[in-house]
Amino acid sequence: MAILVTGGLGYIGSHTCVELLEAGHEVVVIDSLVNSKREVLNRIHAVTGKQVAFAFADLLDRSAVTRVFQEHAIEGVLHFAGLKAVGESVREPLRYYHTNLTGTLTLCEVMQEFNVRRLVFSSSATVYGAQERVPLVEDLEKQPVNPYGRTKAMIEDILADLYRSDERWNIALLRYFNPVGAHKSGKMGEDPSGTPQNLMPYITQVAIGKRKELSVYGQDYPTQDGTGVRDYIHVMDLAAGHLQALEWVLRGVGIDAFNLGTGVGYSVFDVIGAFEKASGIKIPVRVTARRAGDVAVSYADPTKAEGVLNWRATHGLDEMCEDAWRWQLHNPHGYDG
Ligand code: UD1
Repeated sequence: MAILVTGGLGYIGSHTCVELLEAGHEVVVIDSLVNSKREVLNRIHAVTGKQVAFAFADLLDRSAVTRVFQEHAIEGVLHFAGLKAVGESVREPLRYYHTNLTGTLTLCEVMQEFNVRRLVFSSSATVYGAQERVPLVEDLEKQPVNPYGRTKAMIEDILADLYRSDERWNIALLRYFNPVGAHKSGKMGEDPSGTPQNLMPYITQVAIGKRKELSVYGQDYPTQDGTGVRDYIHVMDLAAGHLQALEWVLRGVGIDAFNLGTGVGYSVFDVIGAFEKASGIKIPVRVTARRAGDVAVSYADPTKAEGVLNWRATHGLDEMCEDAWRWQLHNPHGYDG
């Protein structure tokens, strides 16, 4: 039996493929390559010595998805595929709703047809939106503030309805906080297309000389140093969390949402300081206005994942920076190099 990984060549999906292969799972990847590179397949092989089966297809292509289920005995699905840029989702809401919602609906319909009802879904801490209190716990009311976040919240609701209609489904909704870092080998990491929108890849591109300076979006937040505070989590910890969630859905225990975060918040200046220490490189910064839609503080209460999934993050901020830097240094042009 195999595990199907949608979006398996993306940043989090690919690191999770490594964990799955190393745990002895057979892995089938479906990926449209809209935001990932074929080269990732070679890197997964280089790191694990194992191959994944690869279907180059979009989830919107129902016959291609059906073919994957015909050709492989799938026992469970890790569903990463989707669009994820906040700004783009504001400019192109229809594309975001179509891709993320219809892609998921198509996947679930085909799963149902083949009697596969075990699913781990890539949700996001973005579903919480602006809340009055931190740490964020899973039972807070969702209030996403942009189309991207709303697609994640809507998919969570759709999957809850699906479970209510047929309790043979087993579904884990994983709410990621801020994934950073890379595989220890330096062979796999985050490879954003165009200008990085997230903090860590922007910092590493400044360090390698691709960008002049880092803009710090606001120093007037009610935090210890005035900059935004986030729960950064090492991508290999996230990958390990997926393995635990997969075991949970394979055991067959219903539907639930889990925060995947460390429970610790760091400011933008904390991250810059840790990165400078890890790399020995000074990052030029310029404080600018706040970015629209940013919240002051966001970090997880990870208690539930620890209790139910038996998972806890183990990598600290220094390691996240060291690994992100090793990847960038060895791959100045990402997977294109
Ligand atoms: C962002 C998305 C979130 C998504 C997540 C995926 C927004 C508003 N939110 O989260 O929906 O799930 O990425 O990883 O885009 N910062 C700078 N300068 C930069 C970049 C970021 O100062 O060039 C600051 C931000 O203001 C924030 C922190 O760094 O305080 C982290 O930002 P980022 O990495 O973009 O993550 P989020 O905004 O938390």
